[in-house]
Amino acid sequence: MTPGTTPARLRCDGTVTANAAVSDGLLRLDARLDLPVDFHPGQFAMLNLVGRDALVFSRPFSILSVAGQVVSFLYRVVGRGTAALAALAPGDRLNFLGPLGRPFPEPLPAAPAVLVAGGVGLPPLFAWWERHHGPDDVACFGARDGRDVPWDLLGADWAVSVDEPTGVPDLHTAWHGVVTALAAERTLTLPGPRTLMACGPVPLLQAAAELARERGWPCWLSLEEHMGCGYGVCKGCVVPVLAPEQESGWRNATCCDEGPVFRADAIAWDRYLGAPPARNAEI
Ligand SMILES: Cc1cc2nc3c(=O)[nH]c(=O)nc-3n(C[C@H](O)[C@H](O)[C@H](O)COP(=O)(O)OP(=O)(O)OC[C@H]3O[C@@H](n4cnc5c(N)ncnc54)[C@H](O)[C@@H]3O)c2cc1C
Ligand code: FES
Repeated sequence: MTPGTTPARLRCDGTVTANAAVSDGLLRLDARLDLPVDFHPGQFAMLNLVGRDALVFSRPFSILSVAGQVVSFLYRVVGRGTAALAALAPGDRLNFLGPLGRPFPEPLPAAPAVLVAGGVGLPPLFAWWERHHGPDDVACFGARDGRDVPWDLLGADWAVSVDEPTGVPDLHTAWHGVVTALAAERTLTLPGPRTLMACGPVPLLQAAAELARERGWPCWLSLEEHMGCGYGVCKGCVVPVLAPEQESGWRNATCCDEGPVFRADAIAWDRYLGAPPARNAEI
C-alpha cells in the first residue's frame, strides 16, 4: 500500500483457511476473502458469521496481515462472538467489513519507533513492524506468562516480558515485569527522540502515555471500545477527547471512525478513566 493512500473499504464474505492456537490464550484466523483487500497497520475489520448463525452485531478485530486475498487476525476468546469465531473450521464462511478506522502513523525518520503491545494488543503493532520497521526501531510484547506468548510469530525481533516467569521455553528469554518497564529499559540509553505506539489493556496504555510524557516523545495509542457498526453511525463507541474550542473542554469522538488510534495527548484522560465500562448484552 502506497503511503498516504486510503485503502478501499469493502464488505464481502470469505472462506476460513486456518484457525488454530498460536499460544495458550491466542488463536490465529486466516481467511481468503472473495475480493482482494489492503490496509494500513492499526486499521481493523468487523467480523461476523454468515447466514442464520450471524450475530446481530459484528465484532471488531485489528488486522494482523494481508497477503493478496488472505487476511489474518489474532484473537482471544472472551465471550459469545469470539467463541463462535474459534469454532470456525477451514472451509467455513465468515463476513468481513474493512479496513476501518485510522491507522498508526507512518515512520518518522527523526524519531524511530518504540512499539509496546500487550496480549491481544499485538496485531496492529505486529502489522506496523512487518510493514515499516527500520534498524533503530524497538518492539516489546508483554504477556501473562511464557505459555501465552506466540513465540514463532514474534521471531527474534520482539523483546518479550511476562507478568509471571513461568512457561518460558528453554530457547527463549523473557523479562519479568510489565512491558512498559521493558520498553523504558530498552530505550534508556538510546539517543534522540522516539515515537511511542501502544496497544493493550488500559493500564498499559496509561503507562505508555506516561513513559512518553516523561521522555518528551509523541505517543499514539490504539483504544478498544465496544462497537456496533464500526463506521461512525451508531455512536456506541465514543471516547472523550480534549476540545479546547468547547466550553466544557472536551467532546466525544467515535473510536471506530476518529480512532481507534489516537494521540495520547488528545485523550481527555480524567473522563476516559472515570467513565463506567460499557457492557455488551448477549448479542
Ligand atoms: C478496534 C478494535 C480492535 C480489536 N482487535 C482485537 C484483536 O485483534 N483481537 C482480539 O482478540 N480482540 C480485539 N478486540 C476486542 C474484540 O472486539 C472483543 O474481544 C470482542 O468483540 C468480544 O466479543 P465477544 O462476543 O466474544 O465478547 P462479549 O460477550 O461481547 O464480551 C465478553 C467480554 O469482553 C469484553 N469486551 C467485549 N467487546 C470488547 C471490546 N470491543 N473492547 C474491550 N472489551 C470488550 C466485554 O466487556 C466482556 O467483559 C478489538 C476491539 C476493538 C474495538
Ligand atoms: S461503532 Fe458505531 S459509531 Fe463507532
